[in-house]
Formats: sequence, structure tokens, C-alpha cells
Amino acid sequence: MKAVPIRAALFTLNRERLVKKLLPRSLVVLNANDLMPTNADGSMGHLQNADLFYLTGVHQEETILLLAPDASDPSQREVLFVRQPNEHLAIWEGHKLTKEQATAISGVKTVKWLSEFPVVFRTLMCELENVYLNSNEHQRADVTVGTRDVRFVRDCQKKFPLHCYRRLASLMHELRAVKSEYEIAAIKAACDLTGEGFRRVLKFVKPGMNETEVEAEFAHEFIRHKGQFAYPPIIASGANNNILHYNQNDQICKKGDLLLLDVAAGLGNYMSDLTRTIPVSGKFSRRQKQVYNAVLRIFRAQVAACVPGKTTKDLRLECEERTAKECVDLGLLKMSELKKQKSDAPAVKKFFMHGVSHPIGLDVHDVTYNHFKIQPGWVLTVEPAIYIPAEGFGVRIENTVLVTENGQLDLMADIPIEAEEIEALMAR
Ligand code: GLY
Ligand code: MN
Ligand code: MN
Repeated sequence: MKAVPIRAALFTLNRERLVKKLLPRSLVVLNANDLMPTNADGSMGHLQNADLFYLTGVHQEETILLLAPDASDPSQREVLFVRQPNEHLAIWEGHKLTKEQATAISGVKTVKWLSEFPVVFRTLMCELENVYLNSNEHQRADVTVGTRDVRFVRDCQKKFPLHCYRRLASLMHELRAVKSEYEIAAIKAACDLTGEGFRRVLKFVKPGMNETEVEAEFAHEFIRHKGQFAYPPIIASGANNNILHYNQNDQICKKGDLLLLDVAAGLGNYMSDLTRTIPVSGKFSRRQKQVYNAVLRIFRAQVAACVPGKTTKDLRLECEERTAKECVDLGLLKMSELKKQKSDAPAVKKFFMHGVSHPIGLDVHDVTYNHFKIQPGWVLTVEPAIYIPAEGFGVRIENTVLVTENGQLDLMADIPIEAEEIEALMAR
């Protein structure tokens, strides 16, 4: 499994698509993410700002991109600022990009050292009017930690209070929602690696094993292929199936229990998202299989329901309706309860309380707004579930799916999903 190599042409195209959305006399400034400190003198791994990556392909910290399509000096219409390499950095941190390398990665012809940023920026600010700055507008984000972009917005508005400031995030959300062919290939590669990890785990899981050992198996498979966990893995056995964001991953997997695995790989900056629920002993009980097959039917119907023109809320409402019907057949809900339920408090919420689909790409919960309508080129998850704490288990199934003009392409279609298929693979 190899990450799909990214060509500068993709980042150039992304910048061209962004520039088309700007007002005349505009300036865009985008900052890299901070290198976050640990308690002491260390730092955590650097996670590049996804928008900056989308427009440049550059991973390096402290990078700044400046776009000014109407600048009078053509060489300043696209400028990338990077840290200047020096001997000290080379000894302690290793190689930093040369200007030629930054151009080769991003396609940006004018690359300057970071120390030149203030002068170039001031020149352009004096010439231009509309300033697009970035912010985290993920609707579910709890934004309490400042970023380089947040600090830049504050400083910039203080120094230049009379410019017209605009939101870059809303434009980036529109652009990133529709995936290019390259991005689809990159997500598919991440999905394939996830499948390898899952197959490995199917051969490995046994009663008495700790959840953490299962996590280590996934980690081994992902890391040896240069991937990583796309998000903190959820390895939840028994009653833990029903804890939506469980990631303690430290309990013993017991015979007779189900093991819910919400685990997937990220590869070459693109993410995938998978959930499977498997029997620890290798065989589902009758009741477990009954619930599993109900969730699988909902999953199939929900994949087919992912069509252009709907919102993710439409998908959730459809899923709630399907799940409610299955819950009646499973004896979990009565028709009379459905009849008297209030529209803002559906009875099914007791057994299925989260959304069914979210966009995915550079981020696992990729940027979007709730009012956006699905378009061909969107990549979505489909993740129905039925949680039954009273019976000590829950089932969730999740794949990563591409929406096209003529239907859906399940990017995880080859990852085992049928109950019998899982049992057969576990028996080997
Ligand atoms: N694994 C995160 C999610 O399913 O949304
Ligand atoms: Mn998901
Ligand atoms: Mn998931």
C-alpha cells in the first residue's frame, strides 16, 4: 500500500479554483499550524493546516501562503514563505525545504524566506482592499485554542483596521467538499490500508485478549505502510460497544461479547473511516446476528440514499426512520411508541443517537456546513447503528463512500462486512 504521489498540478488547480471565488483586489493569507508543545521542552508531531496543504502540498511548519491575483507586480500574485534553512536547523531538526523544493511541491513560482514576509505583506496591503483570512468554522469544533491564523487575524486587524476582512473558511469549505480524481484515489488508498488492518485483526482476535493488543495490531499494519490512525481508534468490547467515543481501549475481550472496531487509516494526508462489529469468539449469537443484519440492511439502504441534492440532515432523518422500523422488528420499540412520538424527540434516539453521514477527506470530519447539498464528488461515511445497553451490546457498521452522478461507489466494498464472511475469516 502506498500513498498516491501528489503532483504540484493539483495544488495549482486548487489555487486557481479558489482565486475564481475571490472579489476583485483581494489578498489571501494562510498560515501553517503551530507545532504544539508538550509539558516540557518537547513538541507533538506537526499536523499541517489542511487548507494550507490543500493549496500548497507543503507540510513544513511556519509556512505562509499569500495569494494576490490583482497585484500590480506579477511575481507577487502567488508567494510562498518558508523557513530559511541553516546549519543549526539542519543539525537539530534535519532538512528544511529549499526554495526550489518548495516550488516543485507546490507549483508556486515565487518562494521567499519568512523574514521577507512583513515587507511583501505591507506592500500588498497598501495596494489591495479585500483581505481573506482563515478561521476554524467547522460547525462542531470547540475552538478554544488559538492558532497561527487566529493570532494573524488579530494582529492584522489591529495594524490595518480599515480594510474589508472576509472569511476564507466558507470558500475553502465549498472547494474541499467536492473531491478531485487525485483526492479520490488518495482516499481509496487509505481505505485499502484500513482493509488490510481489519483483515489482520480478524485473524488475530481471541477471547481473553486485551483491547489494547487489538489496537497494536492495527497500528503495526498502518505504520509499516507509512500510514497512521486517521482518528483515535475505538476498540470497544462488550458493554463498551455502546460508548460512542470510547477510546480507553484497555479492557479484556470476553467470549460471547461483540467487539466494535471504529478504526481506520490515514495515508498521504487523506483519511478513511471504517467501523465493523465482530464477535470476540468468532461466532455471533442468534440475537447478535439478528441485530447485526438489521444494521447491515440499514447500511445498504443508506448507501443507496446518498444522492446529490440531499443534505446530511436529510440522510439522518431517513436513517432514523429505517432504524425505527428495524427496532420494531427486533422488539425494541412498539408501533404505538412510534405513533405517539414527537417529531423533535423520535423514539428511535434511544437506540441510535448520532448522525449517519459526514464528509471525509483531509479531515475525518471534513469541513462542510449543514445547509450544503451533496454533490457528485463528495465522499461521505455511512454509519448506521443500533445500541442496546440493556442487552450488553451494540452494533455499528461504517464505510467510506463516493457519491457520483450515477449512484455511489463504496470505496470499502471489498472489506468483509457480511456476518458469515466475518465468521469464516475468524475461523481460519
Ligand atoms: N470515527 C469517527 C466517526 O465515525 O465519525
Ligand atoms: Mn465516521
Ligand atoms: Mn468511524
